[in-house]
Amino acid sequence: MIKLHTDNLGKVDSMHGLSAGELEGNASLIETYLKNIENKDQGFYTSINDEALLDKIDSFAANIEGKYTDIVVLGIGGSALGTICINESLTHLYQNMLSKTGKPRLHILDNIDPVLIKETRDILDLEKTFFIVVTKSGATPETLSQYFYFRDEYTKVNIPYNEHFVFVTDPKVGFLRTTSLNESILTFEIPENVGGRFSALTAVGLLPAKLIGLDIRAMIKGAQEMRDKFLKNSLDKNLPFQIANIQYLLSKKGKTINVMTPYAQKLVKFAEWYRQLLAESTGKKHNNDMEVIHTGLTPITALGVTDQHSQSQLYNEGPNDKLHIFIKVNNLGPEIPIVNPQPEAEIVNYLNNTSFNHLIDTEMQGTTEALTQNSRPNITIEIDEINEETLGGLFMLFEGATAFLGEFMNINAFDQPGVELSKLITKKLLTNHAN
Ligand code: PA5
Repeated sequence: MIKLHTDNLGKVDSMHGLSAGELEGNASLIETYLKNIENKDQGFYTSINDEALLDKIDSFAANIEGKYTDIVVLGIGGSALGTICINESLTHLYQNMLSKTGKPRLHILDNIDPVLIKETRDILDLEKTFFIVVTKSGATPETLSQYFYFRDEYTKVNIPYNEHFVFVTDPKVGFLRTTSLNESILTFEIPENVGGRFSALTAVGLLPAKLIGLDIRAMIKGAQEMRDKFLKNSLDKNLPFQIANIQYLLSKKGKTINVMTPYAQKLVKFAEWYRQLLAESTGKKHNNDMEVIHTGLTPITALGVTDQHSQSQLYNEGPNDKLHIFIKVNNLGPEIPIVNPQPEAEIVNYLNNTSFNHLIDTEMQGTTEALTQNSRPNITIEIDEINEETLGGLFMLFEGATAFLGEFMNINAFDQPGVELSKLITKKLLTNHAN
């Protein structure tokens, strides 16, 4: 179950909030926007029907079961953030420190800091390690250099490296595609029409998820249910459209910053996954008519309750330029009582007969009510619990909302021309250095 609560928008004054009339005013756009999105032939919502992929992942996982203590994902940006989120949301917070899980530890190397490379190498036994190299383009220098390094580590000790690697890459193009053919390295495909930041529900996220024992079919089921909502020409049922509509309408009222705050430790990486999705998809120089507009929504990640003691002051009294998106999880696990040793002491008696579960819920209520009283627009996404199905649904909810947002903003939400320049400069500098 994923519910969206928008009532606080109507409680905020008209300059900063949204009335029911404003929220309903764009309903007639759904049909056109869905057609436009369909014409763009983006695979983020169609690729989740790929039974053959799920079967291939299952049989691969069965083949290597028990052989490895560590799985390392090499990838960056959209090739890493979904997997980091899946891992952190759906496993024990200290998973890699637990003994006897019966599953390999998962490490995701989304940087090229030599310290990260060395210190990861320090903890790996090469014989018992398996690498998943993830790059859609098959040409990202960060990922290729990580691959070259670890491949060389195997060569140095005469271990046939190709048995320790699998590639997840474009079906046709890229350096990895050619290498896989030349060196007999098994490969999983990222559909041509699924871009990096929309790829969490392809082999990019599903393969590592399966290898650490997660239920990838449940993840897909949750995503499919949300995909069905995304395709509905009905404001009430189409949650992704509702979110994009709110983001867009409020951006017109100066709320160009979106703060995502899950009240759940395990969803902190979901907010980080969304940060990339919103930033890369909406930050654009040109609109679809090639006019220069320099537009974009700026994402901020926060965590409840931690950031109440870090950012709340700004959010309540600073510039009123933000939409707050909260995520509330109804069941955060077994009730953990708080035992007040001095129940009679007035200064702490509000902590009598309570629990961490009640405390976090109450603090979230206090936070959203305070923001509303201060005319700060906020919405809440409510889920029953964090599991494969709800996470799949949440990925699809925000991917769909981002596609609609692209339509509202008249931009291409699926490209990222702005990251090319720094890549080109870096490559030129590296080429000069190498030769
Ligand atoms: O969303 C995107 O397209 C990017 O963030 C890419 O995922 C990132 O640049 C990595 O690209 P690739 O998967 O080609 O290595």
